[in-house]
Amino acid sequence: MYKIGIVGASGYTGAELIRLLNNHQSVKVTKIYSRNHVGKSLGEVFPAYCHSSLTFLDPEEDDFKDLDLLFLAVPAGVAATYAKRFKGKVIDLGADFRFQDADIYEKAYGQKHMAPELLPEATYGLPELFRDKIKKSRIIGNPGCFPTSIILALAPLLSYGYTGDITISSLSGASGAGKTLAEGQHFAHRNENFGPYKVGNHRHTPEIESILSLVANKPQQVVFVPHLIPTIRGIVSTIYLEKNVSLEKARQLYTEFYANEFFVRVRKPGENIETKNVLVSNFVDLQIYEDVHANKLIIVSAIDNLIKGASGQAIQNMNLLFNLPETEALEALPVYP
Ligand SMILES: NC(=O)c1ccc[n+]([C@@H]2O[C@H](COP(=O)([O-])OP(=O)(O)OC[C@H]3O[C@@H](n4cnc5c(N)ncnc54)[C@H](OP(=O)(O)O)[C@@H]3O)[C@@H](O)[C@H]2O)c1
Repeated sequence: MYKIGIVGASGYTGAELIRLLNNHQSVKVTKIYSRNHVGKSLGEVFPAYCHSSLTFLDPEEDDFKDLDLLFLAVPAGVAATYAKRFKGKVIDLGADFRFQDADIYEKAYGQKHMAPELLPEATYGLPELFRDKIKKSRIIGNPGCFPTSIILALAPLLSYGYTGDITISSLSGASGAGKTLAEGQHFAHRNENFGPYKVGNHRHTPEIESILSLVANKPQQVVFVPHLIPTIRGIVSTIYLEKNVSLEKARQLYTEFYANEFFVRVRKPGENIETKNVLVSNFVDLQIYEDVHANKLIIVSAIDNLIKGASGQAIQNMNLLFNLPETEALEALPVYP
């Protein structure tokens, strides 16, 4: 059994890692970390997990000895400081290892990169696009939730040579913001309320553009408008494109591109994309539409932000790093209703 540690185990993505890894045959979570719950049992912090004998340790005091892999489920800027202290395999669920260029990170996140010397050891952890490189890496920068929903929805067309504007409208539930309380996250504010935020300057835009540029092999720019909606989980991204190819050709490109990808489901014509069809699963649903009147292609994707958008994808990456079956612990069907 590989021994796993989780820093930030008291947060939303940390809790999802614990729940999903509970079903893994070849790894065991042996150390969980929190600064605010040191000495408490897992069940005291998450009553749903009261069966567990795990106790929270202080990440600032522990030496991470005896661990084969460390998940970092902490805010951007914090993860790099922990990655410096651990010489084994690292999967960061935040942004510290998503960019090869520290300058782009520093501009997007408004803070200095704490370990730029580690960036050459890091790979962007989107298995469907970078599987071979991930397998050989020590550090994985797990993709952002919006970028996962957008990059997978665009990769087939961009690698085929799409040229033209890319306009994206994304909707996300409240868990995307994490567990830390903020005024805008209070029930009385969030419920029965929605709207766009960070229009024109969301920190996921540089991540989306840098990976799309790699996929297309030329610089890409996008217009990205995220919205917060009063649900707990789920992201839907709707992407408006020029119609360079026919709907039939686009459908063929997507079906072939993802033919061997267990988690990516290119839905049949007429099937709707809804968060309900992917919730609490590692699946990505994609649909391709045309607007004949406006001569546009419209791609729509849906994911669960905490699973394919975070902890599920992180486990997919862990499986690749350990040369285990990529879908291990992740094959559960979505929850319905
Ligand atoms: N939520 C999502 O849908 C999602 C999706 C993709 C990626 N992510 C990324 O994943 C990371 C975790 O997100 P989350 O939603 O799980 O956040 P969260 O619910 O706010 O949890 C983050 C945890 O990090 C710990 N933490 C904060 N500062 C720390 C420090 N200086 N040292 C050690 N631990 C610290 C906190 O635990 P203690 O205070 O108990 O120590 C907290 O429980 C973030 O980088 C986020 O951007 C989130």
